Amino acid sequence: MHKSIKVGLLGLGTVGSGVYRILTEGKTTVGEKAGVKLELKRILVRDPGRKRRVDVDAGLLTTDPGTILGDPEIDIVVEVMGGEEPARSYIAEALRAGKQVVTANKEVMAKHGAELLRLARERGADLFFEASVAGGIPILRTLQESLAGEEVEAVYGIVNGTTNYILTAMDSKGLDFAAVLAEAQALGYAEADPTADIAGHDAARKLAILASLAFNIQVPLDQVYCRGIEEITAADIAAARELGCRIKLLAIARRNGGRVEARVHP
Ligand SMILES: NC(=O)c1ccc[n+]([C@@H]2O[C@H](COP(=O)([O-])OP(=O)(O)OC[C@H]3O[C@@H](n4cnc5c(N)ncnc54)[C@H](OP(=O)(O)O)[C@@H]3O)[C@@H](O)[C@H]2O)c1
Repeated sequence: MHKSIKVGLLGLGTVGSGVYRILTEGKTTVGEKAGVKLELKRILVRDPGRKRRVDVDAGLLTTDPGTILGDPEIDIVVEVMGGEEPARSYIAEALRAGKQVVTANKEVMAKHGAELLRLARERGADLFFEASVAGGIPILRTLQESLAGEEVEAVYGIVNGTTNYILTAMDSKGLDFAAVLAEAQALGYAEADPTADIAGHDAARKLAILASLAFNIQVPLDQVYCRGIEEITAADIAAARELGCRIKLLAIARRNGGRVEARVHP
């Protein structure tokens, strides 16, 4: 008989629905692989009447965070609500209660990661945030554990999918920024309010998290230089092509003498 571990889910949107499927519908569930029985006990949402991407027993849904954060039976809290507040407070409350927390929230981790990780250590709880940066690639744990003994010189890459889609489409279709953005929004690749992506803020949050782990320092978000792709024109893309180059939004953090420079720009 496997040990039963109860999970509380905060949020049932794009990511939360995926978590729900993995926890309940997978052929070989995460729990089976880990040798435990994972049981989804409750799910926090704003609007329980809303149509969902997944078929959920309405009895699991709640609008009261206390039924998850204050439930001593719940061992693991998965935060996939997004936004800074109340997500930060809920994560802190769960950690204070000694629960293990998993979050995909780059905004909270970029702004409050150090304080929340300290709280987790104090309470003997774990705070996992791999999904907050490059969710499909195990980069954060690699930096934290496998590369812990190395002196990392630089971390850089393309960390925002929406801007990469836009720049790639501008390049391949010869269209201007506004036209491709409208198309990406219609296809659901870009948010209705795409500011966080196109202005580089999403990439800057991810870079602050990556750089803090790579260089073992706290990189404040407001110290990350940030320029987005709004001003890139079809003419810029064509000029780059003539030089044999492509324009990408890069996130770059590197050692520079005794300091670390962190910047996001095309
Ligand atoms: N989408 C991605 O591809 C992706 C990838 C990596 C990481 N992330 C991160 O994952 C997190 C979730 O993103 P998402 O795209 O899944 O968001 P989303 O689709 O907007 O879903 C958010 C969910 O949280 C619930 N919620 C939000 N605020 C709440 C509140 N104050 N009280 C109760 N419930 C609340 C919403 O409830 P209702 O459904 O009732 O409105 C919804 O179910 C974010 O931190 C995001 O940055 C997203």
